[in-house]
Amino acid sequence: MRITVWRDVLDSLGDAILVLSADLEPAALNPAAETLLGVSKPSSGFIHELLGRNDWLARMIASCLKSGQNLSDPDAELILNRRSVAVRAEASLLMKEDGRIRGVVILLQDLSHQKSTERTVEGSAAGLRLSPAGLAHEVKNPLTGIKGAGELLAAMFRNDARAQGYCNVILEGVDRIAALVEQVLAFSSNQRLAAQPVNIHRVLHQALKMAGLYPNCPAGITVKQLFDPSLPEVIGDAGALERVFLNLIRNAIEAIGPRGTIMLSTRMETQFRMTAEGRRRHFLRVEVSDSGKGISDEELAQLFTPFFTTKPQGTGLGLVISQRIVTLHGGNLWAERGGVAATDGHADYNRGDRASGSDGAGSSGPAAMTPATTSPGMTFKVTLPVRTDSPEA
Ligand SMILES: Nc1ncnc2c1ncn2[C@@H]1O[C@H](COP(=O)(O)OP(=O)(O)OP(=O)(O)O)[C@@H](O)[C@H]1O
Ligand SMILES: [Mg+2]
Repeated sequence: MRITVWRDVLDSLGDAILVLSADLEPAALNPAAETLLGVSKPSSGFIHELLGRNDWLARMIASCLKSGQNLSDPDAELILNRRSVAVRAEASLLMKEDGRIRGVVILLQDLSHQKSTERTVEGSAAGLRLSPAGLAHEVKNPLTGIKGAGELLAAMFRNDARAQGYCNVILEGVDRIAALVEQVLAFSSNQRLAAQPVNIHRVLHQALKMAGLYPNCPAGITVKQLFDPSLPEVIGDAGALERVFLNLIRNAIEAIGPRGTIMLSTRMETQFRMTAEGRRRHFLRVEVSDSGKGISDEELAQLFTPFFTTKPQGTGLGLVISQRIVTLHGGNLWAERGGVAATDGHADYNRGDRASGSDGAGSSGPAAMTPATTSPGMTFKVTLPVRTDSPEA
């Protein structure tokens, strides 16, 4: 499970990650690396050629393997078959559990986009490259070392309760910073979203899967799905939308604890918006409701404030990032108090009945699928514009 999640994290990173064995055989690469290098299954010949063209990278890897130190080059030129790309490169050792060297992890951050922005920035600050993504990378490097050292210390003083306490402080702090860094990196790479036809139910199933609720769900948690299978596709970025619903589902899981109900529902909005060209823009709506503890009015007002969190390990960025992604898709994400009743009997939902005058796509009106019984918990509502063929006003 842990490994699957990390695989998902690596796959959703915007930065290219390439893993080579100690004798420079290709071992793994993430989709961003496939895109950057233009190859999905690199052969050893390909790696040999790549390192031949990029002497600086070959030297960096060799010296990382020899010295055991993480090395980085903030501004390098990666020469590929027919083009060259400005990158920031890092090489870190990949260790086996017994402490022996397994290989090297190479991170390549494509700077072409940043370079073009930098050219337009005036003043000396531009030279410092204080981008959130750059800072996040800088923070990430020493974290791996701190975490490894913390784990080793914990293992060395297994019977010392005080030492275990201190190690826990270190390890929990590291995990929290690591989570923050991942969120910042994900946020920075989500600025460039794909615009592909996306089946929203596939996205929801994928998010449920990543949250560990599908196809099997832990005992005590009930997941209800109230899906309208006839919904049209959304135009957008499936990976980014999965992140949105994963965040919402994880929040719901965290709110209900070991027992409770989470309900996902989808439907078409009856109302539409007019575009500047006089076309109708239709929206679908996804709701994620839970039977959790709910929140106070004060908390509700702060939900979408960066770094607002009530969780010891939380970053307080999950909802902010999710809202940003939805907005970039032309939709809306908002929250309302009241969720779903914590029963696993039949659902009491007034499907399609508008509780009162919601103005539909995009505004924070009351839910169309309001639970018949008022329950604690929360409902997060997302509207997204759908692909539509109706041209007329
Ligand atoms: N379904 C929910 N029920 C109750 N409270 C919620 C729910 N979703 C979010 N919250 C509250 O909103 C806060 C912010 O949520 P957000 O997802 O932005 O960050 P987080 O969950 O604290 O951290 P992270 O997402 O990094 O784990 C949470 O700490 C929690 O207090
Ligand atoms: Mg969260």
